[in-house]
Order: sequence, then C-alpha cells, then structure tokens
Amino acid sequence: MHIDTLLVHGGEAHKSVTGSISMPIYQTATFEHPELGKSTGFDYSRTLNPTRQKLESSYAILESGTDGFAFATGMAAIAAIFDLFKSGDEFIICDDLYGGSYRFFQEICTNRNQKFIYVDTSNLENITKNITLNTKAIFIESPTNPMMKVTDIAAVASIAKKNGILSICDNTFLTPFFQKPLDLGMDIVVCSATKFIGGHNDTLAGLIAVNNSALGEKIRFIQNTIGSVLAPFDSWLMLRGLKTLGIRMQRQEENAKAISDWLLIHKLVDKVYYPGLTSHEGHTISKSQSSGFGAMISFEVKSKEIVERILKRVKVIAFAESLGGVESLVTYPIAQTHAAIPKEILDRLGVNDRLIRLSVGIESSLDLIEDLKQALE
Ligand SMILES: Cc1ncc(COP(=O)(O)O)c(C=O)c1O
Repeated sequence: MHIDTLLVHGGEAHKSVTGSISMPIYQTATFEHPELGKSTGFDYSRTLNPTRQKLESSYAILESGTDGFAFATGMAAIAAIFDLFKSGDEFIICDDLYGGSYRFFQEICTNRNQKFIYVDTSNLENITKNITLNTKAIFIESPTNPMMKVTDIAAVASIAKKNGILSICDNTFLTPFFQKPLDLGMDIVVCSATKFIGGHNDTLAGLIAVNNSALGEKIRFIQNTIGSVLAPFDSWLMLRGLKTLGIRMQRQEENAKAISDWLLIHKLVDKVYYPGLTSHEGHTISKSQSSGFGAMISFEVKSKEIVERILKRVKVIAFAESLGGVESLVTYPIAQTHAAIPKEILDRLGVNDRLIRLSVGIESSLDLIEDLKQALE
C-alpha cells in the first residue's frame, strides 16, 4: 500500500464494534479481568492501552518496523533507548544535534559512566576511526538540527552491523513520509512526534520503531518499567496528525523550497542551509535516501542586529521554540534549542549569533516571504 493510504488508515482498518471511523480514546487507567488468570489482553494502561497501541502499530507499519512505541515526549523516547545500555558503554553521536539530546547524553548518561564521542557523521571515516571495543551504538540525526547536515544512513547502518553495534536514527525532520531509516538498515528509528507527526504545535509526543522483535521486547520492558508512556488522548491526537501528515509535509516542503530560493539571493543573507538546494553539500545523498527534503531551513544573516530585527518584527511567523507544525516558527538556536551546548562546540558547527532556524508551515509561501521581507529589511 502507498504511504498516503497507510497514513490515513494506520496500516489496517481498526476493528471497532461500533463501526466508528475514528479510533476511540480509551481513557482508562485499568481494565477489568473476566476471572482469575484471564485477561482481555489489556490489564493496565502503562503496559498497554488500545488507543496508544493503535498509534504504536501504525508507526511501526509506517517505518517498516516490527514494533512501535509511543512516549510522552521525544526526549522520553530517546531516554528509553539509552536504558538499553550499561555503565562503561560508549557511543558515537553526530556532532550537530538537538541541544536537549546533547544535554541528556552529557548531564544524565555520563553520570552512568557512559562515554559520548561527537563527530561529523557525514564523513564516515570519523565514525570508523572512533569505534572501540566498548562502542555500543551510533546515533545520528539526518538532516541534523540545526545545520541540516546529511549523513549516508545506509552506510552508517552497514558500519554498525559490521561492528556488531546498534544504529539509531532520529527521524524527526523528515518522518517516514520522506525517509525510512529502518529500510536503509538502521536498527532503531526515533522521533519527536511533537513536530511534524502531531503537526499542530499543540501536543508533545515521542515515537520509536525497531526492525526486530527481540529488540522490541527489550524496549517494551523499558517502556512499561519506566512508564513515560503517551496518554490515550495524546495518542489519539497523534493518530489524527498521521492522517494528514503527507499533505502537510508536501505543502510545507513546497513552501520551504520557495523560501530557501528567496533567501539564497537576499543581500542580507550570507548562508542558507536547506538540503533541497543543489548547492547544499548533502543534496545528492539526501536525494538518494529520502523522497523529500523537508521543511526545515537554517540561514545566516549578516549581523546579530538583523537577527534581533527579524525576531521582533515577524508577524505571520511566530518567534517560538519547536518545529514541524502548520504554523511557521522562527527559532534562535544559540539562545533556545541549542543553549545547552558549549559555545566552542557551537562555534565549530557554525551555530553562531547570526543563525536563524525556520520551520516552514502550511501558510501561503507568498505571505511567508512577504513577512520575512518586511522583518529583514
Ligand atoms: C531532532 C529532535 N529530536 C528530539 C527532540 C526532543 O523532542 P521533544 O521536545 O518532543 O521531547 C527534538 C525537540 O526539538 C528535536 O528537534
């Protein structure tokens, strides 16, 4: 089945006794047992809830996985993955990544005596030369947040397999609509569903899919034990988000292409980072492994004063953290999403005080360009 159909129907028609088209919200903490030793299959909602289960199975199907899992936030999902590992384990991580993930690795995981090596994974040699006997996983974002660097996902998966370690891809920016890391050989895909999947800037959620049931069992155990699960109503909102994910992403990408072309020739803009631009260094790999370039653009303006002007003057676009929703948002990574990363690392990556990140929504691209124009000039 084509992804457009899978998104609307969640991969399988839900079997409702009432015939309801929309999956019911099972707003219940617990389930009655028919008799001792018997269960309906549902015992307690932390373990399994029908609405969450529908979201989890839909996400697994969309990502070509065996098992899916829904968590309260993207960070809760990432944290659950790292509960798979032990003290002394080492990880190779893409050096440009969401600041919250970096904070989790550095402030929480290093206390467990785990070691994180950050490298530019778009150069594969950086990965292979840093693998040691203690390395247990490679974690990448592609494209990365906020510099939009693209990594060859299949090549990373193959390096991981050769070394007997896990490969994990944060697919927040592209979602399974544009990119399927498990099909490219990754072991685990994770995303902040708060972003494109929820799509309306109104709900937090995180999703995981894996491509082998044994690994799925381990994550299921962690999910039930730690308990940072997604609530039934929020699961329903994510299911609703999935139905329109395809058309939203197409429209958002169309807008992003128009805006990146406009930014590219603007005299007050020095650099534009968008994988859809043929001048972007990851354009060719991106084209080969994804069916779209997404709707995230970062750009560097000529001075910090211009940044301040834009953030103050935007009217249609909101100055707010987060991304992926129908409303366009502009973010200042150095002070917001990436404030947890030390300045010298940000400097090296190019996350400077002139860099702005734009999440393009579904408004008219003409209005968005007009808004940027009046804010910039
Ligand atoms: C790439 C990426 N991964 C993970 C997260 C964390 O997700 P959440 O905010 O839902 O916890 C974010 C949040 O911005 C993100 O951008």
